Amino acid sequence: MKVCVIGTGYVGLVAGTCFAEGGNDVICVDIDERKIEMLKQGSVPIYEPGLEELIRRNLTERRLWFTSDLVAAVRASDICFIAVGTPEASDGSADLRAVLAVAGAIGQAMNGYRVIVLKSTVPVGTADKVRAAVKDRTTHEFDVVSNPEFLKEGAAVEDFMKPDRVVIGGENPRAIDIMKSLYAPFVRTENPILVMDNRSAEMTKYAANAFLATKISFVNEIANLCERVGADVNDVRRGMGSDRRIGHHFLFPGTGYGGSCFPKDVQAIIRTAHDAGMEFPLLNAVETVNEKQKHLLVDKVVKKYGAKLGGRCFGVWGLAFKPRTDDMREAPSIVIIEELLKRGARIEAHDPEALGEARKVFGDRINYHRVNYDALPGTDALLVVTDWNEFRRPDFARMKSLMKTPVIFDGRNLYEHDVMQAQGFTYYPIGRSAVEAN
Ligand SMILES: NC(=O)c1ccc[n+]([C@@H]2O[C@H](COP(=O)([O-])OP(=O)(O)OC[C@H]3O[C@@H](n4cnc5c(N)ncnc54)[C@H](O)[C@@H]3O)[C@@H](O)[C@H]2O)c1
Repeated sequence: MKVCVIGTGYVGLVAGTCFAEGGNDVICVDIDERKIEMLKQGSVPIYEPGLEELIRRNLTERRLWFTSDLVAAVRASDICFIAVGTPEASDGSADLRAVLAVAGAIGQAMNGYRVIVLKSTVPVGTADKVRAAVKDRTTHEFDVVSNPEFLKEGAAVEDFMKPDRVVIGGENPRAIDIMKSLYAPFVRTENPILVMDNRSAEMTKYAANAFLATKISFVNEIANLCERVGADVNDVRRGMGSDRRIGHHFLFPGTGYGGSCFPKDVQAIIRTAHDAGMEFPLLNAVETVNEKQKHLLVDKVVKKYGAKLGGRCFGVWGLAFKPRTDDMREAPSIVIIEELLKRGARIEAHDPEALGEARKVFGDRINYHRVNYDALPGTDALLVVTDWNEFRRPDFARMKSLMKTPVIFDGRNLYEHDVMQAQGFTYYPIGRSAVEAN
């Protein structure tokens, strides 16, 4: 099939590349010409495991092209995906300006029947707005299909190639059949293609993200309660998660959720509810808990060292909002580091992939290190903020020899009490008792 994907970010680039890998001819379009030039050379502007290899192969085998020329891309394609950003507007709603601009441009460019697919996460009713925007600009036939994306950054290629399910929202069987055949190579293990109307497809994406965010805030509150009553959240989450009705996923307490999706999607569904004359107190609470949780590590630091941190130095391991990505959007590390800086502390930071993105946020206000141990010399304490695998089994003796004092504030519960005790660290995890070194 001939496909174009408009918006070549974390979602569009993965989707376009994977469709090419499935044997289709794919043109990826973006207004960011610098990004397009990089991609044409086979260099990838984001970090996503396995993506670069796939892009290079499909470029070489001439199934994947990159361009800023939307008109040519639309004319060469049967299916046009819209995968541009839908950031949070000032009132919490999703900002649809890019989506509707692209819809209008597709309408203007198309020279025959097209399936126009909404891949971006968009509020209920957006398919109707896209339909109207396209219809304004063309006399050709078209269908608008809602096809929300459920991939996880850090495992995006695998998620796209083997999705748990594919959701297709639309009205016309002609467009739905085209979509089913496009996705057939990706659901060979019988994972379902769920066909529904546009509105239900749009709502499914928000409902899924809001539920996962709720799970995270729930376990964070349980962790905070565990800490007060002397229970261990690590045991509690195992005990809870073993119940098949609950499951182990998204039951790890931490520094709060971040990223480009959960914060804005929770806000957007609250806004949608409000506009529909309904309040959503559950999700308001999820948000409030999350905001509080982002401050938890700093609260623990302040409890130990006092509110003024001038003259103190902290190592930070992990800046990206989660492991295996370089994405810093809404990362809890931003709240944590800004708070520490405001109180006068010096920050020595490390992340395996996100240093470039972090530099855009903090500039030269903090120091950056490619090697995790290089962020430790002279530090009063280490804060572990993102659970990259490489932080799980560090050389504690080496850490201790580098740090001014062997203290760890662990925002991801990566280490065990007995190990911390044996290694002589003072250790502050989340939802578990602390270890005080002698
Ligand atoms: N990132 C995720 O993990 C994820 C997962 C599922 C769904 N989503 C949703 O997918 C959508 C895209 O998210 P993302 O993370 O890929 O965003 P992103 O910011 O990484 O990428 C968006 C891209 O669209 C381009 N763009 C903006 N306006 C354009 C225009 N008029 N014409 C052409 N290109 C344009 C931008 O230059 C950018 O490259 C959002 O709605 C998001 O909520 C994201």
